[in-house]
Amino acid sequence: MKTVFRASLLLAMFILTAGPFLSAAGQETKDIKLPQPQTQGGMPLMQALKERQSSRDFSTEKLPLQTLSDLLWAADGVNRPDGKRTAPSAVNWQNIDIYVALAEGLYVYDPKADVLKLVLDKDVREVTGKQDFVKIVPLDLVYVADFSKISRGTDADKNFYSAAHTGFISQNVYLYCASAGLSTVVRGLVDKEEVAKVFGLRPDQKVMLAQSVGFPKKK
Ligand SMILES: Cc1cc2nc3c(=O)[nH]c(=O)nc-3n(C[C@H](O)[C@H](O)[C@H](O)COP(=O)(O)O)c2cc1C
Repeated sequence: MKTVFRASLLLAMFILTAGPFLSAAGQETKDIKLPQPQTQGGMPLMQALKERQSSRDFSTEKLPLQTLSDLLWAADGVNRPDGKRTAPSAVNWQNIDIYVALAEGLYVYDPKADVLKLVLDKDVREVTGKQDFVKIVPLDLVYVADFSKISRGTDADKNFYSAAHTGFISQNVYLYCASAGLSTVVRGLVDKEEVAKVFGLRPDQKVMLAQSVGFPKKK
Protein backbone atom coordinates (compact mmCIF):
# COMPACT_ATOMS: atom_id res chain seq x y z
CA MET A 1 0.00 0.00 0.00
CA LYS A 2 2.83 2.31 1.02
CA THR A 3 4.60 1.63 -2.31
CA VAL A 4 1.44 2.38 -4.28
CA PHE A 5 1.04 5.68 -2.38
CA ARG A 6 4.70 6.64 -2.97
CA ALA A 7 4.38 5.81 -6.70
CA SER A 8 1.21 7.94 -7.04
CA LEU A 9 2.91 10.80 -5.22
CA LEU A 10 5.90 10.62 -7.58
CA LEU A 11 3.60 10.52 -10.62
CA ALA A 12 1.63 13.53 -9.37
CA MET A 13 4.88 15.47 -8.79
CA PHE A 14 6.09 14.56 -12.31
CA ILE A 15 2.85 15.76 -13.92
CA LEU A 16 2.87 19.00 -11.91
CA THR A 17 6.49 19.87 -12.63
CA ALA A 18 7.43 18.21 -15.93
CA GLY A 19 4.17 18.93 -17.84
CA PRO A 20 4.29 22.75 -17.91
CA PHE A 21 8.09 22.71 -18.10
CA LEU A 22 8.08 20.55 -21.22
CA SER A 23 5.45 22.54 -23.10
CA ALA A 24 6.86 25.94 -22.12
CA ALA A 25 10.41 24.89 -22.98
CA GLY A 26 9.28 23.29 -26.25
CA GLN A 27 7.53 26.49 -27.31
CA GLU A 28 10.46 28.74 -26.45
CA THR A 29 13.11 26.70 -28.15
CA LYS A 30 11.23 25.91 -31.35
CA ASP A 31 10.22 29.37 -32.61
CA ILE A 32 13.18 31.34 -34.00
CA LYS A 33 13.70 34.89 -32.76
CA LEU A 34 15.21 36.82 -35.66
CA PRO A 35 17.91 39.41 -35.04
CA GLN A 36 16.73 42.98 -35.63
CA PRO A 37 16.77 43.60 -39.40
CA GLN A 38 19.55 45.83 -40.71
CA THR A 39 17.61 48.41 -42.67
CA GLN A 40 20.52 50.62 -43.69
CA GLY A 41 22.82 50.36 -46.67
CA GLY A 42 22.62 47.82 -49.46
CA MET A 43 23.17 48.39 -53.14
CA PRO A 44 21.87 51.59 -54.78
CA LEU A 45 18.34 50.92 -56.07
CA MET A 46 19.14 51.54 -59.75
CA GLN A 47 22.01 49.06 -59.60
CA ALA A 48 19.80 46.44 -57.87
CA LEU A 49 17.22 46.90 -60.65
CA LYS A 50 19.98 46.38 -63.22
CA GLU A 51 21.03 43.16 -61.51
CA ARG A 52 17.60 41.70 -60.72
CA GLN A 53 17.21 38.33 -62.41
CA SER A 54 16.01 34.77 -61.87
CA SER A 55 18.65 32.16 -61.16
CA ARG A 56 18.23 28.44 -60.55
CA ASP A 57 21.87 27.96 -59.68
CA PHE A 58 22.09 27.42 -55.92
CA SER A 59 24.69 26.36 -53.36
CA THR A 60 23.46 24.28 -50.42
CA GLU A 61 25.17 26.64 -47.91
CA LYS A 62 22.85 27.89 -45.17
CA LEU A 63 21.88 31.54 -44.99
CA PRO A 64 23.00 33.41 -41.86
CA LEU A 65 20.10 34.31 -39.54
CA GLN A 66 20.83 38.02 -40.05
CA THR A 67 20.45 37.59 -43.83
CA LEU A 68 17.16 35.75 -43.30
CA SER A 69 15.91 38.54 -41.06
CA ASP A 70 16.95 41.27 -43.54
CA LEU A 71 15.43 39.35 -46.46
CA LEU A 72 12.07 38.86 -44.73
CA TRP A 73 11.99 42.48 -43.63
CA ALA A 74 12.67 43.57 -47.23
CA ALA A 75 9.96 41.15 -48.39
CA ASP A 76 7.11 42.40 -46.21
CA GLY A 77 8.43 43.73 -42.92
CA VAL A 78 7.00 46.58 -40.87
CA ASN A 79 8.61 49.82 -42.10
CA ARG A 80 6.52 52.48 -40.31
CA PRO A 81 5.35 53.11 -36.74
CA ASP A 82 1.72 52.59 -37.81
CA GLY A 83 2.47 48.96 -38.69
CA LYS A 84 2.42 49.36 -42.47
CA ARG A 85 4.74 47.22 -44.54
CA THR A 86 7.47 47.31 -47.21
CA ALA A 87 4.95 45.84 -49.68
CA PRO A 88 1.67 47.65 -50.42
CA SER A 89 -1.69 45.93 -50.03
CA ALA A 90 -5.19 46.99 -51.02
CA VAL A 91 -7.05 48.56 -48.04
CA ASN A 92 -3.89 47.65 -46.08
CA TRP A 93 -5.35 44.14 -45.81
CA GLN A 94 -1.86 42.62 -45.32
CA ASN A 95 -3.24 39.20 -46.17
CA ILE A 96 -0.13 37.35 -47.36
CA ASP A 97 1.66 35.06 -44.91
CA ILE A 98 5.21 34.09 -45.78
CA TYR A 99 5.89 30.44 -44.98
CA VAL A 100 9.59 29.76 -44.55
CA ALA A 101 10.81 26.24 -45.33
CA LEU A 102 14.28 25.55 -43.92
CA ALA A 103 16.10 22.24 -43.39
CA GLU A 104 15.22 22.62 -39.66
CA GLY A 105 11.48 22.93 -40.23
CA LEU A 106 8.60 24.96 -41.57
CA TYR A 107 7.91 28.38 -40.04
CA VAL A 108 5.66 31.34 -40.67
CA TYR A 109 7.11 34.86 -40.54
CA ASP A 110 5.63 37.15 -37.89
CA PRO A 111 6.75 40.60 -39.09
CA LYS A 112 5.52 42.43 -35.96
CA ALA A 113 7.56 40.34 -33.55
CA ASP A 114 10.48 39.49 -35.90
CA VAL A 115 9.89 35.84 -35.13
CA LEU A 116 9.66 32.68 -37.21
CA LYS A 117 6.81 30.69 -35.68
CA LEU A 118 7.20 26.96 -35.92
CA VAL A 119 4.54 25.25 -38.05
CA LEU A 120 6.12 21.83 -38.62
CA ASP A 121 9.15 20.32 -36.98
CA LYS A 122 10.41 18.68 -40.20
CA ASP A 123 12.05 19.42 -43.53
CA VAL A 124 9.28 20.02 -46.11
CA ARG A 125 11.35 21.88 -48.73
CA GLU A 126 10.77 19.11 -51.25
CA VAL A 127 7.01 19.66 -51.13
CA THR A 128 7.29 23.34 -52.11
CA GLY A 129 7.96 22.77 -55.81
CA LYS A 130 8.41 20.46 -58.72
CA GLN A 131 11.99 21.44 -59.61
CA ASP A 132 14.99 19.51 -58.29
CA PHE A 133 16.75 22.43 -56.62
CA VAL A 134 13.88 23.11 -54.19
CA LYS A 135 15.03 20.32 -51.88
CA ILE A 136 18.70 21.41 -51.68
CA VAL A 137 18.34 25.17 -51.59
CA PRO A 138 18.62 26.55 -48.01
CA LEU A 139 15.39 28.57 -48.19
CA ASP A 140 12.05 28.07 -49.92
CA LEU A 141 9.47 30.78 -49.31
CA VAL A 142 5.81 30.01 -49.91
CA TYR A 143 3.39 32.93 -50.21
CA VAL A 144 0.00 32.01 -48.76
CA ALA A 145 -3.00 34.31 -49.06
CA ASP A 146 -5.43 34.47 -46.17
CA PHE A 147 -8.80 35.18 -47.79
CA SER A 148 -10.40 35.70 -44.36
CA LYS A 149 -8.46 38.98 -44.05
CA ILE A 150 -10.11 40.42 -47.19
CA SER A 151 -13.39 41.80 -45.96
CA ARG A 152 -15.30 42.14 -49.23
CA GLY A 153 -15.58 40.90 -52.83
CA THR A 154 -15.89 37.61 -54.64
CA ASP A 155 -13.29 34.86 -54.56
CA ALA A 156 -12.09 36.13 -57.96
CA ASP A 157 -11.55 39.60 -56.43
CA LYS A 158 -9.72 38.08 -53.46
CA ASN A 159 -7.54 36.07 -55.82
CA PHE A 160 -6.74 39.16 -57.88
CA TYR A 161 -5.70 41.22 -54.84
CA SER A 162 -3.75 38.32 -53.35
CA ALA A 163 -1.84 37.78 -56.61
CA ALA A 164 -0.99 41.49 -56.78
CA HIS A 165 0.17 41.52 -53.13
CA THR A 166 2.30 38.44 -53.70
CA GLY A 167 3.92 40.05 -56.75
CA PHE A 168 5.05 43.05 -54.72
CA ILE A 169 6.51 40.86 -51.99
CA SER A 170 8.29 38.64 -54.48
CA GLN A 171 9.82 41.61 -56.27
CA ASN A 172 11.06 42.95 -52.92
CA VAL A 173 12.79 39.60 -52.41
CA TYR A 174 14.27 39.79 -55.91
CA LEU A 175 15.69 43.26 -55.23
CA TYR A 176 17.05 42.26 -51.82
CA CYS A 177 18.74 39.23 -53.42
CA ALA A 178 20.26 41.38 -56.18
CA SER A 179 21.62 43.71 -53.50
CA ALA A 180 22.93 40.91 -51.26
CA GLY A 181 24.45 38.78 -54.06
CA LEU A 182 21.97 35.91 -53.60
CA SER A 183 20.32 33.71 -56.22
CA THR A 184 16.53 33.57 -56.34
CA VAL A 185 13.66 32.45 -58.53
CA VAL A 186 9.92 32.82 -58.01
CA ARG A 187 7.98 29.67 -58.82
CA GLY A 188 4.47 28.95 -60.02
CA LEU A 189 5.29 25.29 -60.61
CA VAL A 190 3.92 24.20 -57.26
CA ASP A 191 1.50 21.42 -56.36
CA LYS A 192 -0.77 23.75 -54.40
CA GLU A 193 -3.07 21.03 -53.08
CA GLU A 194 -0.15 19.02 -51.77
CA VAL A 195 1.40 22.11 -50.12
CA ALA A 196 -1.94 23.00 -48.50
CA LYS A 197 -2.28 19.45 -47.17
CA VAL A 198 1.26 19.18 -45.80
CA PHE A 199 1.24 22.71 -44.33
CA GLY A 200 -2.18 22.08 -42.72
CA LEU A 201 -3.79 25.14 -44.33
CA ARG A 202 -7.44 26.11 -43.79
CA PRO A 203 -9.74 26.18 -46.86
CA ASP A 204 -9.61 30.00 -46.90
CA GLN A 205 -5.79 30.00 -47.08
CA LYS A 206 -4.56 29.83 -50.70
CA VAL A 207 -1.08 28.97 -51.91
CA MET A 208 -0.04 31.69 -54.41
CA LEU A 209 3.63 31.26 -55.37
CA ALA A 210 6.90 29.93 -53.99
CA GLN A 211 10.37 31.44 -54.18
CA SER A 212 13.75 29.80 -53.60
CA VAL A 213 16.72 31.71 -52.23
CA GLY A 214 20.35 30.76 -51.66
CA PHE A 215 23.94 31.65 -52.35
CA PRO A 216 24.97 31.17 -55.99
CA LYS A 217 26.78 27.90 -56.66
CA LYS A 218 30.56 28.40 -56.57
CA LYS A 219 32.02 28.08 -60.09
C1 LIG B 1 4.35 34.25 -61.79
C2 LIG B 1 5.69 33.63 -62.17
C3 LIG B 1 5.83 32.25 -62.08
C4 LIG B 1 7.07 31.67 -62.38
N1 LIG B 1 7.23 30.33 -62.20
C5 LIG B 1 8.45 29.78 -62.37
C6 LIG B 1 8.66 28.41 -62.05
O1 LIG B 1 7.77 27.69 -61.63
N2 LIG B 1 9.91 27.90 -62.18
C7 LIG B 1 10.95 28.67 -62.63
O2 LIG B 1 12.07 28.13 -62.73
N3 LIG B 1 10.79 29.97 -62.93
C8 LIG B 1 9.58 30.55 -62.79
N4 LIG B 1 9.41 31.89 -63.01
C9 LIG B 1 10.56 32.72 -63.40
C10 LIG B 1 10.49 33.11 -64.87
O3 LIG B 1 10.84 32.00 -65.68
C11 LIG B 1 11.47 34.27 -65.11
O4 LIG B 1 11.06 35.38 -64.35
C12 LIG B 1 11.51 34.65 -66.59
O5 LIG B 1 12.15 33.64 -67.35
C13 LIG B 1 12.26 35.97 -66.81
O6 LIG B 1 13.56 35.88 -66.27
P1 LIG B 1 14.09 36.96 -65.23
O7 LIG B 1 13.29 36.83 -63.96
O8 LIG B 1 15.55 36.60 -65.02
O9 LIG B 1 13.91 38.31 -65.84
C14 LIG B 1 8.17 32.48 -62.79
C15 LIG B 1 7.99 33.88 -62.89
C16 LIG B 1 6.77 34.44 -62.57
C17 LIG B 1 6.63 35.94 -62.63
